[in-house]
Amino acid sequence: MTTPLAPGATIGIIGGGQLGRMLSIAAAQLGYRCHIYAPEDTPCAADVAALHICADYTDESALRDFVRNVDVLTYEFENVPAEPLRAIADEAPLHPNVDALELAQDRLSEKDYVVGHGGRPADYRAVSSLADLETAIADIGTPAILKTRRFGYDGKGQVRIMDAGAATSAWTEIGGQPSVLESFVDFEKEFSILLARGTSGETRIWDAPQNRHADGILAHSIAPGDGIIGEQKAAAGDLARGIAEALDYVGVLTCEFFASAAGPVFNEMAPRVHNSGHWTIEGATTSQFENHIRAICGLPLGNTALTAARIEMHNLIGADADDWMSWLKKDRAHLHLYNKGEARPGRKMGHVTQLF
Ligand SMILES: Nc1ncnc2c1ncn2[C@@H]1O[C@H](COP(=O)(O)OP(=O)(O)O)[C@@H](O)[C@H]1O
Ligand SMILES: [Mg+2]
Repeated sequence: MTTPLAPGATIGIIGGGQLGRMLSIAAAQLGYRCHIYAPEDTPCAADVAALHICADYTDESALRDFVRNVDVLTYEFENVPAEPLRAIADEAPLHPNVDALELAQDRLSEKDYVVGHGGRPADYRAVSSLADLETAIADIGTPAILKTRRFGYDGKGQVRIMDAGAATSAWTEIGGQPSVLESFVDFEKEFSILLARGTSGETRIWDAPQNRHADGILAHSIAPGDGIIGEQKAAAGDLARGIAEALDYVGVLTCEFFASAAGPVFNEMAPRVHNSGHWTIEGATTSQFENHIRAICGLPLGNTALTAARIEMHNLIGADADDWMSWLKKDRAHLHLYNKGEARPGRKMGHVTQLF
């Protein structure tokens, strides 16, 4: 095991959203200071950090200056370009490593990798032209979903294809970008595996939450996921653990699954803390944010047991956050607001964790 980074040290976080904000809060509790690197003028993570450097993710010299002033580096956003991070790799340790980041940036490599480690995604084909798409539809059938290989999030960069006649319009809608066509999974429930892996290889997994999406955006996570999730979480957890080991991964890794009659179907991974793990702040002995900080600092990981029989996390999206007062009046409901300013439709403004 590498020498632990003692409290008092400085953690650099690339990305300035709510994940960085909650990581900074967890780091501060353990006596660390965070510096945020983000291109926005007023990223919400900067409210709770010691320093914000406002520069572009591709600005290698600004990134190098930033990293020289931190003891360890992490990221809260997976669309950070990998090349500048490779270029500054000698300046400070980066967790999770760049290979894990690059893998999770590309839906195709991610699925290939998971297949190579014994996982089962939905049937999929690489698509780089309209002709490829037509062949892929003929192979896989419909309904199917065309997803861009890169930069998709919250259901963006995806088109559902209900019949072969929709190929041309789908290819146009997706902007003719390198994509993956995947078959539509007839799932009973969706769940995620949240795993933390330390520098010593120690691994902890939280109980798998059930996730419900609305308009492609996570709406609610409920822990522990029951029924079919209880039956499939061990196999999904073993797959996630195997992937983390193969990547020599350090930090929190999230893998999303569909629980189907045929077993757990891998959907996608995120090399970071995840919205479906926000409930762990009050709903688990150690939160995903604290264990991520512990992991990247080389500390022992904390216990991940639940603190209540049932925990519900509700995202406050857009105008939902206007209702903050009513959540404060509810017993055992914990309100989190990210102070992101304008409550635009579809924007994640906060969340509530309700313990039962
Ligand atoms: N192959 C599929 N079959 C059925 N539903 C899907 C499939 N792919 C995605 N979805 C639905 O769309 C949601 C968002 O897709 P996902 O691939 O996780 O992209 P994002 O990066 O936007 O989270 C999923 O959580 C699921 O509800
Ligand atoms: Mg997803």
